[in-house]
Amino acid sequence: MSEIAKGLDNDLTNYGDQDFARYLRRSFAKSMGYTSESLDKPIVGICYTDSGFNNCHRHFPEMLEAVKRGVLASGALPIPFPMISLGEVFLSPTSMVYRNLMAMAVEEMIRAQPMDTVVLMGGCDKTVPALVMGAVSAGKPGVLLVAGPMMTGRYKGERLGACTDCRRFWAQYRAGNISQQEIYQIEGNLAVTSGTCAVMGTASSMALIAETLGVMLPNTASIPAVHADRLRASEQTGVLAAKMAIQGGPRLDQLISKDSVENALRVLLSVSGSTNAIIHLSAIAGRAGIEVDLERFNELSDETPVLVDLKPVGSGYMEDFHTAGGLDKVLRALAPQLTLKTLDVTGRSLEQRLQEESSEQIDQNVIRTLQNPVESKGGLIALHGTLAPEGAILKRAAATPTLLEHEGRAVVFSSLEDLAARIDSPELDVEAEDVLVLQNAGPRSPSGMPEAGYLPIPKKLAKAGVKDMVRISDARMSGTAFGTIVLHVTPEADLGGPLALVQNGDLIRLSASAKTIDLLVSPAELEIRKSTLLPAPTPPSRGYRKLYNDSILSAPQGCDFNFLVPG
Ligand code: FES
Repeated sequence: MSEIAKGLDNDLTNYGDQDFARYLRRSFAKSMGYTSESLDKPIVGICYTDSGFNNCHRHFPEMLEAVKRGVLASGALPIPFPMISLGEVFLSPTSMVYRNLMAMAVEEMIRAQPMDTVVLMGGCDKTVPALVMGAVSAGKPGVLLVAGPMMTGRYKGERLGACTDCRRFWAQYRAGNISQQEIYQIEGNLAVTSGTCAVMGTASSMALIAETLGVMLPNTASIPAVHADRLRASEQTGVLAAKMAIQGGPRLDQLISKDSVENALRVLLSVSGSTNAIIHLSAIAGRAGIEVDLERFNELSDETPVLVDLKPVGSGYMEDFHTAGGLDKVLRALAPQLTLKTLDVTGRSLEQRLQEESSEQIDQNVIRTLQNPVESKGGLIALHGTLAPEGAILKRAAATPTLLEHEGRAVVFSSLEDLAARIDSPELDVEAEDVLVLQNAGPRSPSGMPEAGYLPIPKKLAKAGVKDMVRISDARMSGTAFGTIVLHVTPEADLGGPLALVQNGDLIRLSASAKTIDLLVSPAELEIRKSTLLPAPTPPSRGYRKLYNDSILSAPQGCDFNFLVPG
């Protein structure tokens, strides 16, 4: 045992007699067949999120063995422990509701159980932010290991990747362009391996953000899930975790700084990453006492070019991104705009990392240079205005250019149920130039801020060939989706924000160049409408949903719980 590591003596159970607690713990540990020699080693806990309800983590048993191999070979004892897993499409009403539950469980189980450091295994959308948020608050050394992206499938000679292509084909099916039999065949070819969604969605964005924050081994964020390098990265993560256990650091909260958060925001902008990632990064930063300011975000967006040509915005998939050099290439291209003194889990600065020789850039079309960007400005912007006084988010890179400056008549849906009931009605009064508005789908709403901001194009317009409209809500959007979609409108409708006051026929103006979103209704009229607003639905009275409802913060605050943020 090193002088720093305490191994099994970490955080002894309180019986009022420390020696008894140590004796009892060792005795029960021995019932699992450990020798005294093993129990005298530093301990690497492995926070393990395998689940039959999480397809993205299907290969975790193999990765776990590789992590353990690395830990054992480096003189520490690996002890896996189960953790809540959040499989994106298996949770109702939405995985977002459970991110904070998982973050709380991660924090408490790292703190409560005897370990000197922790390997955090995750990947599917909400698991990475939950793991990092919890570990930052737990204040123990830790390192993240992600699942890696899925490989693409094939259908009639075309490459398919979950889940941008899922949406494209579904839109064609709704428009009557492909048959039910075809959509069944496509269903079996969209997600064909383990790993996270194959495009620059939330999981991939969060993996790149985590590596940029320094909480993961360099060059590991985008290794495909099924590649042998993924297992080698797992073993190396185990080796590093053992070293961290023996040396006593670094802790994740020491790596999350204002500079590393700004670097991560720049990477997010340059890869045209997921809008969800802004919420998650705000929550991670918030755990370290750092605020993500939307005005500053817009400054960064105006300076940071889009360098990556991947779906849902462009044409490539994550496997192409990795082959083209992965995050390392992006960091090298962005280096003049980054703060290079930030540190990572290996103890090196970003500057030291980038001084190492890089592999040859194979595909200049997938990852471009500062001199030859995909777009000269970042893929995401924050909007403010009379409809969103505290902010909203638009993925301008995923929008139809002609809709970025648009004024239109509101067609309002008061809830997800209302949307489902009327969106395809032949009687719906809607034109292609209208603005679709969804209310009461924000963090405090009963739906828990689902990825419903990608409102479907009304069937009669879809059949007429309409592919995009301005759509506005307090909901989120899947990182794999695209369109002219304004999200995270704050204050949300459930709290009586201006979004709750929009009525059919109101004019709404979006200006991406001015970064504004305005409801063109007089303040006097809005005051009258406010006085007649119906009360919000009765909040949950028990259990986690009550805690959630009582404590959830707004989207710009990362949708964390108010009592989990320092201060
Ligand atoms: Fe797990 Fe997309 S469903 S990352």
